[in-house]
Amino acid sequence: NLTGTHGPERPLAHLTPTTGWMNDPNGLFYDNETATYHAYYQYNPNDNVWDLPLFWGHASSKNLVTWEDHGVALEPMDDESGAFSGSIVIDRNNTSGFFDNSTLPGQRIVALYTENSNVSESQFAAYSLDGGYTFDYYEHNPVLDINSTQFRDPKVFWHDETERWIMTLALSQEYKIQIYTSENLTSWEFKSNFSHHGILGYQYECPGLAKVPVIHDSPSNVTLHGNNSTMNATAQTNSSSVDHKWVMFISINPGAPMGGSFNEYFIGDFDGETFTAQDAATRVVDHGKDFYAMQTFSDAPNNDVLGIAWASNWDYAAYVPTEDYRSSMSLVRNLTLRPYSPNPETTEFTLYSEPILNYTQLNTNQSMHKTSLELNSEESVSYRLGKSPQGLLEFSLEWKVNSSALTSKHEFADMSLYFQGAEDDDEYLRLGYEQNAAAFFLDRGNSEVDFVNENPFFNNRVSQNIEIYKIAEDGLPIFKVRGIIDRNIIELFFNDGSSTSTNLFFLSEENYIGTVEISSGVDNVYTILDFDVKQLSVK
Ligand code: FRU
Repeated sequence: NLTGTHGPERPLAHLTPTTGWMNDPNGLFYDNETATYHAYYQYNPNDNVWDLPLFWGHASSKNLVTWEDHGVALEPMDDESGAFSGSIVIDRNNTSGFFDNSTLPGQRIVALYTENSNVSESQFAAYSLDGGYTFDYYEHNPVLDINSTQFRDPKVFWHDETERWIMTLALSQEYKIQIYTSENLTSWEFKSNFSHHGILGYQYECPGLAKVPVIHDSPSNVTLHGNNSTMNATAQTNSSSVDHKWVMFISINPGAPMGGSFNEYFIGDFDGETFTAQDAATRVVDHGKDFYAMQTFSDAPNNDVLGIAWASNWDYAAYVPTEDYRSSMSLVRNLTLRPYSPNPETTEFTLYSEPILNYTQLNTNQSMHKTSLELNSEESVSYRLGKSPQGLLEFSLEWKVNSSALTSKHEFADMSLYFQGAEDDDEYLRLGYEQNAAAFFLDRGNSEVDFVNENPFFNNRVSQNIEIYKIAEDGLPIFKVRGIIDRNIIELFFNDGSSTSTNLFFLSEENYIGTVEISSGVDNVYTILDFDVKQLSVK
């Protein structure tokens, strides 16, 4: 078992490599025959920093909480090369000719990935006859080569409408996402470029095109106040009544607005050859510092669009203070498009993300639930969160803001949550909302860990615009955030997931969060309507 066994800092419910270095998620697919999720990843087993030769590591999970390690799945051609990022598809109809009847249609696994050397980046195919554990390399590789050294990260899917395979990949430094089609996964025909969209940064990487379900009811219309139904394991999508829009995901690095790496997306239409964005907007997948190279699963149950990102940032990934391994993935997220109102004049679709937390695999060791708590500046309230915390907790917070109670422009009108270490409460995560900015903040800088204090790219404070979740009966706005904290990563989901923020944080070893203190700089502005915290552990 790969999680939770190698030292106090390792997340419990997030995928990490046993040893060595990990970056992008690759080849994500669901095997319906065995009800197993497979995740591969950029892997250097020889060191805990990125280096050549670079491999695909492999892990699998039945529950998306615990992952089983399977070591190296794909190798590069030689020690100076890398098996760079790519994807896996299930070739049910054996279009590739790699299979015969001895392989179940649902296990005809083909990987398409970039073979990187110092003279070229070309696309290779490999296939598995044993459910994704070992691979054979296609004998006529490469399957696509345009004589470029900056041409990578193929993401392939089956397009029902045109009955063809579609590949998106990045002609990285020309800012082109190229679209190719194929009948057989081995010969590919160029169709179009999606070029110079969004924030460009230094280069484009890891694109992906997905047909994302559109849900016309916004979650706040279907979720009653105080009802914790969004704490369920999966999104409440009603697959019979959904339609779809196409979404193009692009990763850029370096050059993100908040530094280093980030993911952007475009909503639009895809006709089998060309992706056309519906408008000129660049949208942000996750507003945190640590969410990159998101990829979606092939063949996910119910046609859900499930994504995982690498939860780090190239600006500092090699220096994060873990020992025998580096990096974790985000939780798996269920992605949908739903209406939201960023401001009073506009309602439009945005990408909603809902984390998949499978409670059958988790113990709730302690839970705390508070309602109707009016905050004032004189006293803070503090709650101890269980006896021996393990560093894994989940919370959900709904608050109401009465801005007419603001009396001075000089007061920092915050509502703050201090999640404090159980061993040493000088170390804490602070997060909250401030009414004058009408924005949410997270401060991960209150730590004694050298890396946090010394690495100049590991900025401590991030902030987040957040729209009104709903209006209370008394006319006041309500906001909501759900958070999952797992040892050194916090994932925040605002207003049922209309925006998210994923960030690493580091407190001293074994100083797991044990107390939460709630305070405000002002009187009678904030009412906590509902605050639910659970200390969890993995079964
Ligand atoms: C993105 C990336 C990809 C490449 C891989 C190499 O993080 O640079 O473009 O395939 O990492 O590890």
